[in-house]
Amino acid sequence: MKEPLTDRLGRKIEYLRLSVTDRCDLRCFYCLPKGFRDFEIPDHWLDFDEIERVVAAFARLGTHRVRLTGGEPLVRRGLPDLAARLARLPGIDDLSLSTNATRLARHARTLREAGISRINVSLDTLRPERFREITGGRLEKVLDGLMAARDAGFTPIKINMVVMRGINDDEVGDMVDFCIEHGFTLRFIETMPMGETGRDASDRYVDLDEIRNRLARRFELLPGMMPGGGPARYVQVAGTDLRIGFITPISRHFCESCNRVRLSADGTLFLCLGQEHSYPLRPLLRAGCSDAELEAAIREAVALKPERHEFREKPEQVIRFMSMTGG
Ligand code: 5AD
Ligand code: SF4
Repeated sequence: MKEPLTDRLGRKIEYLRLSVTDRCDLRCFYCLPKGFRDFEIPDHWLDFDEIERVVAAFARLGTHRVRLTGGEPLVRRGLPDLAARLARLPGIDDLSLSTNATRLARHARTLREAGISRINVSLDTLRPERFREITGGRLEKVLDGLMAARDAGFTPIKINMVVMRGINDDEVGDMVDFCIEHGFTLRFIETMPMGETGRDASDRYVDLDEIRNRLARRFELLPGMMPGGGPARYVQVAGTDLRIGFITPISRHFCESCNRVRLSADGTLFLCLGQEHSYPLRPLLRAGCSDAELEAAIREAVALKPERHEFREKPEQVIRFMSMTGG
């Protein structure tokens, strides 16, 4: 067994978030500007062979969890084939997907068969008009996608809701009811100042302690746990199967237990969601590097991982949009 991948602060890196495209079929106002076109050129994207090679190298260094993200990963053609290839790699025991679910109705079953077990779906509102205002898209497609995912047997299915004041903070209770009804896990997320759009939306920031207190008046909340060890802190709603996670990058960051790095579609490793530290792997791959060179590069990249994000202290810092590296 090789020396496991560890950063300068002793954090073990065992989780890779893999953005397979920076494109998206929605335009959530807090993520991408309306009419945004300035995407990466597809020639610059890693192809599936290159992606598989990078993930295999991570797996040899001890990474066992991989999440497919975007942009919207399902706009990348052939995604289920890629998923199947990654699921087969020795050492990868947990393959998951983050999606906006607009195309999930069509693909749920194939993705499940390809070996994806868990999915996260971004959903900020259950009201069609509001959904259109926030994302520019149609809610119905997302709901169809969610039901298809449930029927295909994904567990858990997590709903990620970015809570924004005056936009959807009045729907927190409705979302709880919806998730109880369908057996989904619910996670609330604080708005992050990612790119210009994220910074604009940060005016809408809600501290999730407030949401938790509000919910505690209506529900009995028990201390909860969720396998997986991500950044969310969970409660269980008494008398139901519902677990609610709070993802609080702003009010209470969780950088000290960060176990992940992100690979963008063009083959750049980003070491922190809230910082620009990065390491390009594509030139190396296209120059025909050896497996040993690739592993050494990954170790070098991980050594650049910063201690923490500075969303609060330096909200202007991150220029890239969320869709470049996924959430
Ligand atoms: N702040 C918080 N979450 C964001 N997302 C996109 N932009 C932001 C932001 N500025 C979330 C989406 C989705 C995931 C891709 O990231 O809602 O859940
Ligand atoms: Fe697309 Fe997700 Fe960004 Fe919305 S938040 S525009 S669904 S990548």
